Amino acid sequence: MTFKIIVPLLFLLTVPVEPQRRSTVGKFNEVFAWKQLTYDINGIMVLQDRFAGDDLAGGDREKRATDRVYFNYNNEEDKNWGDRPIWNDSPTESPSASTVDPNDEIGRFFIQYNNVPMGAEKVGNRLFVTIPRRRYGIPATLNYIDLSRPSGRSPPLTPYPDMQSSRSIISVYRTRADECGRLWMVDTGTIEIPNNPRYLQTPAIVVYDLETDRQILRYTLKSSDLPANNTPTGLASITVIIKNGDCSDAYAYIADVVSYGVIVFSLKAGDSWRHSHNYFHFNPTAGNLRVAGQSFIWNDGVFSVAVGPAEADGCRMLYFHPMVSSQEFTVSSCALERRETNQTAFQVTGDRGTNSQSTMHGLHGPSKVLFFAEVGRDAVSCWHVDRPLAPGNMALLAQDRQRLSYPSDLHVIDDEVWVMANTLPRFIYSRLDPNQYNFFIYRAKVSDLIEGTVCAGPYDAASFYPGSYYKNA
Ligand SMILES: *[C@@H]1O[C@H](CO)[C@@H](O)[C@H](O)[C@H]1NC(C)=O
Repeated sequence: MTFKIIVPLLFLLTVPVEPQRRSTVGKFNEVFAWKQLTYDINGIMVLQDRFAGDDLAGGDREKRATDRVYFNYNNEEDKNWGDRPIWNDSPTESPSASTVDPNDEIGRFFIQYNNVPMGAEKVGNRLFVTIPRRRYGIPATLNYIDLSRPSGRSPPLTPYPDMQSSRSIISVYRTRADECGRLWMVDTGTIEIPNNPRYLQTPAIVVYDLETDRQILRYTLKSSDLPANNTPTGLASITVIIKNGDCSDAYAYIADVVSYGVIVFSLKAGDSWRHSHNYFHFNPTAGNLRVAGQSFIWNDGVFSVAVGPAEADGCRMLYFHPMVSSQEFTVSSCALERRETNQTAFQVTGDRGTNSQSTMHGLHGPSKVLFFAEVGRDAVSCWHVDRPLAPGNMALLAQDRQRLSYPSDLHVIDDEVWVMANTLPRFIYSRLDPNQYNFFIYRAKVSDLIEGTVCAGPYDAASFYPGSYYKNA
């Protein structure tokens, strides 16, 4: 009697998935985490540094199609960028950071270490991840991860919409999708090599149709929108409002952290204009930061614009803050829709307290809770907008010196809050440890986050807590 043993071949071919422990921070669950980024380009895994990407194009090699991005030496005039005064009280941490001259890396297709993600936004089954070009060796500034496919803890990024088309965009900080199936961003047109920025193109608003994955708008900003040589390096975020459900009547608000303004774009008018106001400036007493083991002084102004619920007149309250500040301000969207700045339309909303410097913030409409990505405290916090804005009316929802170091993006998507943290100051002033997890994306349900905290509604005036510390659950 003979036995036939059939070995299931497919089983043997299955790549064993290394058991991975995903972390939680507060009520946030880790979605992905990376030590260093990798790419999946046309099905080819790009896992380590490579000089050229020619062999990724498939078939005919268009010789160095990236030349326009990498080898244009025109327009280099501003030598003032990057001279923010800094001090580093742990210089021994950075043995090699100072030995690499970023200018020597020009023309390189992929330098893994230089790829630091900044923005993360989930739209449907895709998670868009942006990597502004602050060094050479970044294959694509706009990428995505297909969430409908199983992946490990550190999935590779795929250029969006594809490698070839992604080359038309030079550098993007963060994206925002609107409710009309479009993805908005600002292409700063700049490669921000420290002390040697390359201004390759005038900054432009770029919009993709997420149905067809085609670029449907490239609007070049006007010179009057860009008052300083280095303004392109400050176009950190874009916020989009659709008026009265009419997709052709959209307004985009671009925060300019470097020259302290907000640029407004009207899709219907095909025009843009700029507002200046003292409230867009940084607060000098809030500039000393200590993040990721680095101490430094920054002077970033208005960083993000969050949108309040629609009011009867169709106007919306816009919440904004300079990054170097603990204050929050408001202005009506209708005031910014006008080309002349109405100086008295701006209001001081309140103060969030010491070390509450924040990059991005976003409002969850149904609960009227505003969520803040706090770089000063490695944290995410919240505030119910019907309460007076004071530290005692805020709750610290998650805090972690390592795994929430420099939360660089925060976005409320449906009933979830998505956060990216990227340990940026260590990259700028010291050296990331490529053997550790440096980049994180988290998600949490709004209801889980605010339950039992001062941010949970309904608003009750008696519960106003005037103290100077955050009250947690
Ligand atoms: C400017 O804003 C203030 C405060 O909202 C308002 O009362 C005033 O009418 C506005 N001025 C103009 C010219 O719109």
